[in-house]
Amino acid sequence: MADQVQSQPPAPARAERQPAPPCALVIFGASGDLAKRKLIPAVYNLAAGNFLPDEFAVVGASRSEMSDDDFRQKMIQDLHTFETGTLDPQRVEWLKSRLSYMSGDLDEPRTYERLREALAAVDEKWGTRGSYLFYLAVPPSQFAAIIRRLGDARLTCEEGGSWRRVVIEKPFGHDLESARQLNRDIREVIEETQIYRIDHYLGKETVQNILAFRFANGIFEPIWNRRYIDHVQITVAETVGVESRGAYYEEAGALRDMVQNHMFQLLALTAMEPPISFAPDVVRDERVKILRAVRPLAPEDVLRETVRGQYDAGVVKGKQVPAYRGEKGVSPTSTVETFVALKLYVDNWRWADVPFYLRTGKQLPRRVTEVAIQFKRAPFILFRETPVEQLEPNLLVLHIQPDEGISLSFEGKVPGPVMKLGQVRMHFQYSDYFGTTPETGYETLLYDCMTGDSTLFQRSDLVEVGWGIVMPILDVWSALAPRAFPNYAANSWGPRAADDLIQADGRRWKDNG
Ligand code: BG6
Repeated sequence: MADQVQSQPPAPARAERQPAPPCALVIFGASGDLAKRKLIPAVYNLAAGNFLPDEFAVVGASRSEMSDDDFRQKMIQDLHTFETGTLDPQRVEWLKSRLSYMSGDLDEPRTYERLREALAAVDEKWGTRGSYLFYLAVPPSQFAAIIRRLGDARLTCEEGGSWRRVVIEKPFGHDLESARQLNRDIREVIEETQIYRIDHYLGKETVQNILAFRFANGIFEPIWNRRYIDHVQITVAETVGVESRGAYYEEAGALRDMVQNHMFQLLALTAMEPPISFAPDVVRDERVKILRAVRPLAPEDVLRETVRGQYDAGVVKGKQVPAYRGEKGVSPTSTVETFVALKLYVDNWRWADVPFYLRTGKQLPRRVTEVAIQFKRAPFILFRETPVEQLEPNLLVLHIQPDEGISLSFEGKVPGPVMKLGQVRMHFQYSDYFGTTPETGYETLLYDCMTGDSTLFQRSDLVEVGWGIVMPILDVWSALAPRAFPNYAANSWGPRAADDLIQADGRRWKDNG
């Protein structure tokens, strides 16, 4: 491995940020997994970093019967389990004092009347000034109804300088039509500026860093185009199967679960034009423009340029794991895909004819999320008279997770009397420069919701354009049942057809070990 790049780490930008304005965070579904694993630890981390105002409170709401005290105990106990950093007892006490709970049926209008009263009391006690962030940590089928009831109870009206915002997390619809319907339902109650659609990939520092890398450095932008780039590979590989989420996954599949959202975010950030500012809508406009430029797939393109797979049983770390069809909640004859590979083109001046290969799957041999930019090969003529057989093209890899960093591979001369080449790699590792801070991935997102910065959230048009791209695939796939599922063993890199897809173009997937 080549030397680390040496420089002084700059102060992290967030250190200069002010605490969020006074507000109350209302978590619907507070007795569920998201609250205990992510949201409460994220709130704690924000408090520990001085990103929360003193005028702050959390109100948990869900069906389960619990007193305020029970809720506080439970949340703090879970915080001890799920917080990855060291807990400061004073901060923990601060947070505990600000937790309260309300049980209620979320289908009942009366629940929302009670919530309004509870929030008025919170305003009185903690000075949260009528500004509320409603986090809907509930199944997506409940989004529209809860927002409607919040509206009916006048909890979404922004009056006298207060703000009211609603946070929902993907999936946003099941296909284009249902996504449009959801957007319409939401917009009947609140403004687009009040809705924060989370794609948790945008909460990842390394994903946000794609923008910094591309636009805060002078050397990359001039070569970031079809003249110099041969193709781009986006890989999101997981070593886990569907775990306990079989029932959900049966309705989703890898295309809906990963491609239409997370992978399209990575594609958009990698391929977008430089925005003229970091104003939220300016950045979102550029992201949406790229997705709009994706060449629509005709049915024959779907057959040629997309591959689906489903994992079979296999051996992982010496242990036998079941096939997808043997997982809990999954039909033994399921035709749902757990692997997708596809090729897309972005038809604009920057990217015309540069293929973007995307692949994602469960039960693959290594957990890796990365964007690999392969540059064009150098002309060979100079080396024709030497024993060099071929020149490896330069490869720039944005490592999103788990080894966050950036690497660049290039050719170097192997020392000795003959001209021999070897590939070397320059590698920057995030943790070497910026250390690691305890993060759930929700800190920035929550903070941005509180400060009203929607840059990292999905606007309705972005969601719909994403669905528009995958709809032809969903249509063809649902019309033609997969021929040979399961078609890849757990702990392998997916079906053979995924290799054929890229090899047909004279290329190969990056070797991830
Ligand atoms: C979720 C998907 O959105 O993202 C899961 O529903 C997937 O199926 C997860 O495992 C991956 O997220 P991460 O952050 O672990 O890459």
